[in-house]
Amino acid sequence: MSSVSVTESADCLQVQGHVQYDTPDHITPSNVHTSPLEQFHIWFNQAREANVREPDAMSLSTATTSGIPSSRMVLFKQLDKRGFVFYTNYTSRKSRELEQNPQAALLFFWREMSRQVRVLGRVEKLSKEESEEYFKSRPVGTRLGAWASHQSSVIGEDDLVHRLAEVQERFGVQASDKEGDVPLPDFWGGWRVIPSEVEFWLGKPSRLHDRVRYLRVEGSPDDQPRWTIDRLSP
Ligand SMILES: Cc1cc2nc3c(=O)[nH]c(=O)nc-3n(C[C@H](O)[C@H](O)[C@H](O)COP(=O)(O)O)c2cc1C
Repeated sequence: MSSVSVTESADCLQVQGHVQYDTPDHITPSNVHTSPLEQFHIWFNQAREANVREPDAMSLSTATTSGIPSSRMVLFKQLDKRGFVFYTNYTSRKSRELEQNPQAALLFFWREMSRQVRVLGRVEKLSKEESEEYFKSRPVGTRLGAWASHQSSVIGEDDLVHRLAEVQERFGVQASDKEGDVPLPDFWGGWRVIPSEVEFWLGKPSRLHDRVRYLRVEGSPDDQPRWTIDRLSP
């Protein structure tokens, strides 16, 4: 049964209901890690252990140079000393926006744990070598799919099927093959979001949630950032 109910009239859909968040945990600046990347690591592992469905799914927001935002889900693939990595097509809408305005916002929502993590920061492209290493680890079908899709462009009904047939022929492998030599397309790779702000949110009763925000000390190095930590009002 859904946790929301609705009232519908001819011109309006109104939604009522709210899940009561009631976690026994408590976060505050004094009990979190001094680094938000380490704190994320801890929470991510806890989300996996709690069998959160798709803990690696995150919303990515970008904006045009005139400030028009857009969001979509992507998969979080790596957290290194510098930041959060995801992979995509470099000609897609998100990548075009990131090229012009290299700032992004990420959002994780782990419903089963009443937790949310917000990340803001500038982005950089991964090196070709880094993207190549990841690309090689993907199944053949997914690698062919990257070649076949001109992501975010308008296509006709059968275009994808034709494109897939073309690339299968070009590389002499089938999408169902277990192995095959499918190189990294030069229009595909990773982006890294280097955080300047990270917020951890924990749902509590009466909407008096816990919020802990890290702000990066300006000028501190990318691979060894320093942070100020504050508790925010819900
Ligand atoms: C759970 C989930 C995970 C996704 N992961 C990715 C991803 O890692 N990379 C990607 O390019 N698109 C991914 N997508 C598809 C994107 O949401 C989006 O449709 C696509 O990237 C085109 O976005 P754009 O036109 O804004 O560039 C995912 C979608 C969902 C629902």
